[in-house]
Amino acid sequence: MKWDVDAVRKQFPALTMQVAGRPAAFFDGPGGTQVPERTLEAVNRYLVETNANRGGPFRTSEGTEETILGARRAVATLLGASPGEIAFGANMTTLNYALSRAIARLLEPGDEVLITDLDHEANRGPWLALQAFGIVVRSVRFHPEDCTLDSEHLQSLLGPRTRVLAVSCASNAVGTIVDLPAIRRMLPEECLLVADGVHYTPHRPVDVKTLGCDFFLCSAYKFFGPHVGALYGRREVFSELPTDRLRPQKETAPDRIETGTLNHEGMAGTAAAVAFMADPLGRGRDATRENVLEAVTSMANYEDGLFESLYRGLEGIPGVTIHGPKLDAPRTPTAGFTIRGVDARTAVETLGQNGIFSWDGHFYAMTLVEKLDPGPGGLIRVGLAPYNTRGEIERFLEIIEDLA
Ligand SMILES: Cc1ncc(COP(=O)(O)O)c(C=O)c1O
Repeated sequence: MKWDVDAVRKQFPALTMQVAGRPAAFFDGPGGTQVPERTLEAVNRYLVETNANRGGPFRTSEGTEETILGARRAVATLLGASPGEIAFGANMTTLNYALSRAIARLLEPGDEVLITDLDHEANRGPWLALQAFGIVVRSVRFHPEDCTLDSEHLQSLLGPRTRVLAVSCASNAVGTIVDLPAIRRMLPEECLLVADGVHYTPHRPVDVKTLGCDFFLCSAYKFFGPHVGALYGRREVFSELPTDRLRPQKETAPDRIETGTLNHEGMAGTAAAVAFMADPLGRGRDATRENVLEAVTSMANYEDGLFESLYRGLEGIPGVTIHGPKLDAPRTPTAGFTIRGVDARTAVETLGQNGIFSWDGHFYAMTLVEKLDPGPGGLIRVGLAPYNTRGEIERFLEIIEDLA
């Protein structure tokens, strides 16, 4: 697919925003992307035409049931799963707490759960909470020089009582892509692999079977959708998972983990976001698995090409230090960096005043940033999306050069 960034940009109403007379440049994608018109329309259409709760014998309620099924189908297409393996929730963090509580019921005191220092707190906190039930939680280190996971340390922590490994597919702070299939091969067969795919999903084609995970979590607002979390659970494990469940709630997966009324309009928007990922140029391509894989690959190639300019530009500015993997290592188009003598907040404020949106601090990847110890303000983070342009990168680099 030949990338046509203008065709992509035309679909995003937010991209017409101006700040101080200049077009806004959204480099804040790892914190949440902008949404295309079709996501907005789907949310709106749901609320106007189909707004109801589930289970009623009337048009809007039946339409809601179809919306929910449509969203399960769409996310299943995106992840290479089946609709019965896809659940929804408020966000990834809330779903992961529900998941960890359920998995805890399968564990005995003294059983071991592994997490990593590379991960977002959303894939650490829910597992650390299990210590209250006598579960032993250990964290795998990373190599500070390139923020790759220390697989020798992981190997050394594996033992006969290791029951769960919770690990991110990609770091939202520095962009490291973790080799999940290789990790799966290291794990005993009965050890559950819980993958945080929040930062990975917008940047790489996902196939949960190839990744080898039992559970995979993502958030639609990071891939052009509304603020909704989604969970894949491998059928064999998910269908028996002892979740928190109200008496009238369905016992079967995926409903068994979905407590309360879901965000139906958000789910409608999520299906539309997946439709965008199959058809990012707006050429009327169907939301098939094949189209998703092809389009996300093209999106990734475009982003990676842009990222090369951004990375090389940053690397060439004296006083700038990029933390994380080198350009040729597996990584997403997200950079965490510091500027000598410039506080991260000051840099991000200056960028913001110039209409360039980015983030500073730890981005909830708190352990990672603490271990890197870049100074009290943390890191500056920029991440690319398929609607960013070379012109935006030039503007960005000029400001960083001035600051440095
Ligand atoms: C890698 C990663 N994991 C988990 C989360 C948490 O997702 P949510 O906001 O949906 O709870 C985020 C959010 O920034 C993230 O970037």
